[in-house]
Amino acid sequence: MTVATNYPAATAYRRILDPANRHNPYPYFAELCRVPVQRLDADTWLVSSHEAITRLLRDPRMSVQDRDIDTTDAPLGSDGEPVTGPFLFRDPPHHDSLREQTMYRFAPRIMGLRPNIEMLVTGLLDKRLSDQPGQLDVVAELAYPLPVGVICELLGVPPEEEPVFHSFAGRLTKALDPEETLTEQEITELAVTRREWREYLMPMIAQRIEHPGPDLISALLTDGDPSTRMTLVELGITLGMLLIAGHETTVNLVANGTLALLRHPEALARLRTDPELAAAVVEEVLRYDPPVQLTGRRATADIELDGHTIRAGEHVSLLLAAGNRDPRRFADPDAFWPERPNNAHLAFGGGVHYCFGAALARMEAQVALTVIVTRLDNPRLVDDPPPYRPNMLLRGPEQLRVAHDGIT
Ligand code: HEM
Repeated sequence: MTVATNYPAATAYRRILDPANRHNPYPYFAELCRVPVQRLDADTWLVSSHEAITRLLRDPRMSVQDRDIDTTDAPLGSDGEPVTGPFLFRDPPHHDSLREQTMYRFAPRIMGLRPNIEMLVTGLLDKRLSDQPGQLDVVAELAYPLPVGVICELLGVPPEEEPVFHSFAGRLTKALDPEETLTEQEITELAVTRREWREYLMPMIAQRIEHPGPDLISALLTDGDPSTRMTLVELGITLGMLLIAGHETTVNLVANGTLALLRHPEALARLRTDPELAAAVVEEVLRYDPPVQLTGRRATADIELDGHTIRAGEHVSLLLAAGNRDPRRFADPDAFWPERPNNAHLAFGGGVHYCFGAALARMEAQVALTVIVTRLDNPRLVDDPPPYRPNMLLRGPEQLRVAHDGIT
């Protein structure tokens, strides 16, 4: 039986967010991971071992739906129930139907995309060819425009819309952080931002009805059986989720990966001579410094876990980043070791909500990291540690300046 430590949620979350820990929260996560299941406050638990997180992600008694959401004015979805959010925040069975419809049209569009991604990354670096020697901000010049370009193309969103949805994305991703870390004003502003976001997306759907194209949204509007198709509101919400999830996470994977490689020159040198190592490098970045650090669930029934009872209705924070460095699961967990055997990290979650875009994110990061290490001559960090984004759930540098002796 494990003894529960009593960490008030706000204190624990504040410690994770504290700028002093921001550049390296992992010693604190290791401390939390020593007690795999602990109560944070009256109705919140923190789970941080690999084994317990894996178990809860697959437990059908754990819900992603927000019980407190006001559905009075919500339109009805294709299941006849009020639409409360994208399928990331819907439980089965309706989650499964929405995800399947989207995946069926998304997966074939990903296959064969690697040469386009290579061209995009090459083009982004070519813009800086005249810098000899020089400096680039990997976040602004590569890690961000790459996934944005790819997801806009897939969804049929004009790339010139980027400044608009970038501004929405910044405000909406803050909403993913635990509520204890948000101010009253932030919570009020979020409701307004969510409404404005819907108003921004719906005309894009209307435009696709008038002029369908080869994109995913047009396909969701026109393919398949009309009786089971998503409603227009569900489609708008799906478009919004993919637009944000499709770039706000991958930017951090490329930036965290560049940072890890520059701090581990022996791994960088191996990737430079052996691009086949890219897949293993990306898996190790996902484990070592995951772009999504935690996720949440709510118990719908009493659940026994590690000697504790999580009661129906209680919230659970699953600290994926701590599970990824659980010494009970990973040997030498703080080492960056691309050849690590059986690297079953938790960076993409698990169970029915396992990341929808994992294959795309992996492909983008493998190409970007390989191109960075092969084309930049003598790359080195200008600021170590770099400044970090203020989010708690999403982790990555705000800016990553890399000096080099030329671009080949
Ligand atoms: C779900 C991480 C890239 C779309 C998730 C989850 C995680 C995650 C941890 C599970 C959340 C939970 O169970 O509560 C990441 C990381 C990425 C990445 C680390 C990049 C490195 C992407 C991309 C897309 C995407 C590129 C879209 C093209 C989604 C969607 C879900 C999801 C739609 C919800 C899946 C469902 O509920 O069935 N992601 N993601 N993600 N991700 Fe990603």
